Amino acid sequence: MAGEAPAIRTRDLTKYYGRRRRDRGVDGLDLEVRVGEVFGFLGPNGAGKTTTIRLLLDLLRPTRGAAEVMGLDTRRRSRDVRRLLGYLPGDLTFDPTLTGARVIDFLGALSGGVDRAYLASLVERLDVAMDRRIGELSKGNRQKLGIVQAFMHRPPVLLLDEPTAGLDPLVQQEFAALVRETTAAGQTVFLSSHILSEVQRLADRVGVIREGAVVAVDDVAALIERSPRHVEITFAAPVDPREFAALPGVREVQAEGRFLRFTLTGTADAVVKAAARHDVEVFDSREPALDEVFLGLYAGNGPGAANGPGAAGGGAR
Ligand SMILES: Nc1ncnc2c1ncn2[C@@H]1O[C@H](COP(=O)(O)OP(=O)(O)OP(=O)(O)O)[C@@H](O)[C@H]1O
Ligand SMILES: [Mg+2]
Repeated sequence: MAGEAPAIRTRDLTKYYGRRRRDRGVDGLDLEVRVGEVFGFLGPNGAGKTTTIRLLLDLLRPTRGAAEVMGLDTRRRSRDVRRLLGYLPGDLTFDPTLTGARVIDFLGALSGGVDRAYLASLVERLDVAMDRRIGELSKGNRQKLGIVQAFMHRPPVLLLDEPTAGLDPLVQQEFAALVRETTAAGQTVFLSSHILSEVQRLADRVGVIREGAVVAVDDVAALIERSPRHVEITFAAPVDPREFAALPGVREVQAEGRFLRFTLTGTADAVVKAAARHDVEVFDSREPALDEVFLGLYAGNGPGAANGPGAAGGGAR
């Protein structure tokens, strides 16, 4: 039966830290993560991502509901579940006086069965400074150590709480490659993030969490497709904005002389072809900020989702 089970399943998983509504961690979470997928858990600060991960690890006790990892109840089979999991905490703390090598040795001995060759390859790929005291390491270098300890015993399920926080682009790339290899080997990766582009790059499916509840679960490609992008075009000469306003998926058109700005949902084909009839100096297109994705989800992405110039310039962070 366990062979058929999803990697992670929660049913009505609920955690209140206190009695009041503002003490809500997560409320009525129903999630299913498939074996071998990268599942991105996307949500703003305070949405309940860390709470969910800590519930799966049995570090927190649910107020209501239950969770399973590979078919095992996280409370009743806590120790067995722990052995199935690799965990990268969001607020990573190691003893600052120890070297990375000591910490890895210690954690390896605790869990047993670490493949030395695999460990060495992780250290090399992520370029981890193993011989330095942890207190001397930069944030990103500490984070890399955290990634090594989460992956090193090749756990069936990896719970990674904001894994790329503090990593430079090169290391992020290496990390993405590592994640892909991991799932190709049949392992499952559950990672939290509040950055859409990161989830987009890494995950197969995404669950969007907001105020303790899941508001959407979808293929990443589908989520992006439904979300408006920001397009900015500078032409060599002024154009008639109505020409663009009439195109499918185009909304919130703003024109200023040779400069045109609008949001675009769906395929860019018509816009690109319309632009190509003019002399284009700059064509810029960027993904929506996370809150705009949420707005789209709430408003069904209809014209009502338009949220005015107040949202302009708001990044995902
Ligand atoms: N120990 C605690 N006591 C009381 N409330 C808590 C506690 N830990 C978390 N919360 C509350 O639970 C909610 C969810 O917090 P959580 O840490 O799970 O969010 P998150 O999605 O991980 O956010 P972030 O992106 O900032 O890491 C928040 O409203 C938070 O204030
Ligand atoms: Mg968190």
